Amino acid sequence: MPDLRNKDLRELPIDYGNALCGILISEDEIQQQVKKIAESIKESNKMWHCVIALNGALFFAADLLRELRDCTYDTIQVSSYEGTQSTRTPEIKKSLSKPVKGRDVLVIEDIIDTGHTAKFLRQYLEDQGANSVKIAALLSKPDRRETEICIDYLGFIVPDKFLVGYGLDHNQENRNLKFIAVKA
Ligand code: IMP
Ligand code: MG
Repeated sequence: MPDLRNKDLRELPIDYGNALCGILISEDEIQQQVKKIAESIKESNKMWHCVIALNGALFFAADLLRELRDCTYDTIQVSSYEGTQSTRTPEIKKSLSKPVKGRDVLVIEDIIDTGHTAKFLRQYLEDQGANSVKIAALLSKPDRRETEICIDYLGFIVPDKFLVGYGLDHNQENRNLKFIAVKA
């Protein structure tokens, strides 16, 4: 998968003042890579029960799941971030609506940063009796990892910079951008 750690930023379509530096991943690049991730997931030939990690993975999940066949989904919200800092102690803010017992669960995450949230979610879902738990993440920042985590399906490796757009926010702002930009 593409490693964007040395990629030059592209110019923003409109002036975002001092808020954003430039585009790291364009709308087209995101959409192409989401299709590729969906292709690999489909090769597993499993009936996935997707668990979407709100709020960040909302846009990724909406595009990814529409490329899959025969999947179901539920949402969970785990919080570990304040501003640009990970608190390292994930807590469930919104729980699942249906049991995952016996199901093949695919966690849909926006970005794996320190790794604490994904690790917590995997353990939580295993404890709830899931038959198997795999992780699909659009982005990974390996340079920030604090705990080892296996990402089963990944879109892009990104640099250690704070990113916004396509679901990623900074204090709830910029989630709705169609592209992924570096925050100034
Ligand atoms: P982790 O527990 O440190 O891996 O954090 C994962 C969560 O932190 C992600 O699901 C995001 O919500 C948030 N996060 C990490 N890096 C960024 C970023 O660059 N921009 C926005 N949110 C981020
Ligand atoms: Mg998140």
